[in-house]
Amino acid sequence: MRVFGDLEMGYFQEVLDSRQLGWAEGGMVTRFERAFAHKVNCDYAIARNSAMSALAEAVSISGAGTALEVICDPMVQFGAIATIYFNAVPRFADVNYDTYLMDPESLRANITERTRAVIVTNLWGMCANLGEIRRICDEHNLFMIEDCAHSIGATYYDKHSGTIGDVGCFSFQQGKHMTTGDGGMMTTNREDIYSKLFDEWAFGESPSFMTLNFRMNEVTGAVGMAQLQHVDDYIAEYTENLRHFTEAIVGCPWLRPRQVTEGANHVGYQFACTWEGDKHGLDFGQFQQVVRDQGVGLRFGFIGKPAYLFDLFRVSTAYNEPACPVRCPLYTSDYRYREGLCPVAEELMPRLLTTGMIELPPDEAKRRAEKLHNAITITARG
Ligand SMILES: Cc1ncc(COP(=O)(O)O)c(C=O)c1O
Repeated sequence: MRVFGDLEMGYFQEVLDSRQLGWAEGGMVTRFERAFAHKVNCDYAIARNSAMSALAEAVSISGAGTALEVICDPMVQFGAIATIYFNAVPRFADVNYDTYLMDPESLRANITERTRAVIVTNLWGMCANLGEIRRICDEHNLFMIEDCAHSIGATYYDKHSGTIGDVGCFSFQQGKHMTTGDGGMMTTNREDIYSKLFDEWAFGESPSFMTLNFRMNEVTGAVGMAQLQHVDDYIAEYTENLRHFTEAIVGCPWLRPRQVTEGANHVGYQFACTWEGDKHGLDFGQFQQVVRDQGVGLRFGFIGKPAYLFDLFRVSTAYNEPACPVRCPLYTSDYRYREGLCPVAEELMPRLLTTGMIELPPDEAKRRAEKLHNAITITARG
């Protein structure tokens, strides 16, 4: 479980004593950035007030904008929303059925002459096939953004998530591995990107490029400095929680475990597996009832449908959809957010069983994993 105590108070007091609560070069946020860069082994880290801000800034710096496209994955909507902030058009690559992560072949198939960037989500504590995605981005000169909101501690061939793309975007929102209440961090090994982000500052005079003032303040930085020293313990605990759930479904032919990307590790963030009982003559509704009766606490179907089927993209802002009143004369394309766009994600989403590992007391994780095992036994008995 998370610890908030003397360590936080010490850094916090330092900030108060300095009388400098807003960002100051060399202050607490700078220390947090350096410590974070060291943690994930990258050259530069720059603190932001949320991962959403970080993603938006990454899209801005990628050069994507009006009538240009950013390829996202559809299991969550954050990258695609960040894309719309800058009037760019999200295109959706499908995912791998076993890992739930961006499928490099689908990414390749979605590249057009308008594509400027890719946002790949390292979903639920696991990196996507970042090696192949990096290769594709290099071949096509695309800016690669990693959404690392769930992936602190997650590695790909010993490189930390967020260090393979041009930019990584981490979240310290309440539900993430470590929290500062709200907050985010961008990581990069590119000096040019770092300097541009560092110079981002709209204050007093007109800046020379699009600036966003998404910076973190010193008070938040103090919490971050302290929490970063606990994060390995949190990750170990959440990963142990995940192990209990993973073990609970071993041998069950109709709950398919999530596979781990080759070369990656899997840190505890969210347990997930897929329902395959319909292929074994079982009734999903009955299984759900047993799971509820047992008090396992699973969520069924995650967000219900892939991101592109939500009204946000189809009705209100996606300016080439028939239902949307806004039209962009610069973007004429046959691309539509329709059913069938990402068949694997559409098949996968309603089959997902998920439950969070963050702030789940270890004893409770064990108990709930046992209940899941019981629910499987009861369902199999019929
Ligand atoms: C995958 C992913 N990306 C981005 C975000 C946005 O993070 P934040 O709340 O820090 O803006 C979230 C938040 O839940 C997320 O799950």
